[in-house]
Amino acid sequence: MAFGIPVKVPLVKDTISQEELLALSDWLRTFPRLTKGELTVEFEEKWSTWQGSKYSVFVNSGSSANLLMFYALLLSGRLKNKKVIVPAVSWVTTVAPAIQFGLEPIVCDCDPETLGLDTDHLSKLVEEHDPAAIILVHVLGFPNKMDEITAICNEREIVLLEDSCESLGSEYRAIKTGNFGLMSSFSLYFGHHLSTIEGGMICTDDADIKDLLVSLRSHGWDRDLPNAKQKELRAKYGIDDFRAFYTFYHPGFNVRSTDLQAFLGLGQLQKADSVVESRNRNFLHYDAAINDHQYKVRQREGTLVSNFCYPLITDRRDEVVNALTEAGVDSRPLVCGSIARHPFWYERYGHADLPFADIVHDNGMYIPNNHEMTDAEVEYVADVVNSVL
Ligand SMILES: Cc1ncc(COP(=O)(O)O)c(C=O)c1O
Repeated sequence: MAFGIPVKVPLVKDTISQEELLALSDWLRTFPRLTKGELTVEFEEKWSTWQGSKYSVFVNSGSSANLLMFYALLLSGRLKNKKVIVPAVSWVTTVAPAIQFGLEPIVCDCDPETLGLDTDHLSKLVEEHDPAAIILVHVLGFPNKMDEITAICNEREIVLLEDSCESLGSEYRAIKTGNFGLMSSFSLYFGHHLSTIEGGMICTDDADIKDLLVSLRSHGWDRDLPNAKQKELRAKYGIDDFRAFYTFYHPGFNVRSTDLQAFLGLGQLQKADSVVESRNRNFLHYDAAINDHQYKVRQREGTLVSNFCYPLITDRRDEVVNALTEAGVDSRPLVCGSIARHPFWYERYGHADLPFADIVHDNGMYIPNNHEMTDAEVEYVADVVNSVL
């Protein structure tokens, strides 16, 4: 396609359609309950079915999902020490809970093939530190090398957490990302694969962890727990039914979402498969259309990339960004680059030696992918990129 056509290609498009907003307004006219109630439970159950996990807990953001995962892990007593390996290419709230809860984060370099944990560096860090937990991110929808990572975790009794906020619907050996760790988090913020305006989900197959998450989500009380669990807690602590209204078993949070957002989530879930399919199709189209270059990140055999946005890692980043801007195409840095290059990190922990994360920090960027992107838009963006690369 010729240059000079002022087509604006945005990074993201709203996944909440006009039809869904009209359905929401019809529902509101029935004067329903808006706070967390039955629709939230229905949304969680349907999410679990789609994701392939036993339990899901709906919260108000992906960041709250990460916060709750870490705190539930800490309270569960399953950490053998305070050391947690965190990915260099991640997000502030992937890492921040470890700091906030007094754990000791150790940063792992990024793998050029997956943008996830560099498994050689990970093995070295595990030997050196014998960490209790690892949290990973499937960056931009690229699944991590899960065979290697789960083997390390099993061998050393390390708890794995998955931040799947950028990878809804990605697959590793036909298993959806978010089904490998003890818990996994998802974001339902605007621009992610699906949206509930703001929102997040935690998935787990562990009933005790699910109960802990549910209690921590709402103040640390027992109201949303199964009856048997409520009875058990009340008997253990001698709590009568009246006192139970305001009895707090854990120092909890309030990170609930609402039934209004669950209503939106139920609508969104119906198009999850088609969103994943479009994002993967756009990704493969970009892969074919964009000139080969040194750090082209591909869909590896045995994986499906439900791509968040398409990555470019090039020492000509500034030129690519300028060309795209002139052509009306949005772009951003490749998420956080290296987390160790951010003030909150280096002011606490100093410099970290992370060769590839540094390259991502200095040369990484991403270009649009969303469920409504057309073939013509992908080709237009690829042409602009190819004019520089
Ligand atoms: C990897 C990762 N984790 C966590 C989050 C936070 O999600 P939220 O914006 O819903 O709090 C994001 C946000 O983009 C993310 O990319």
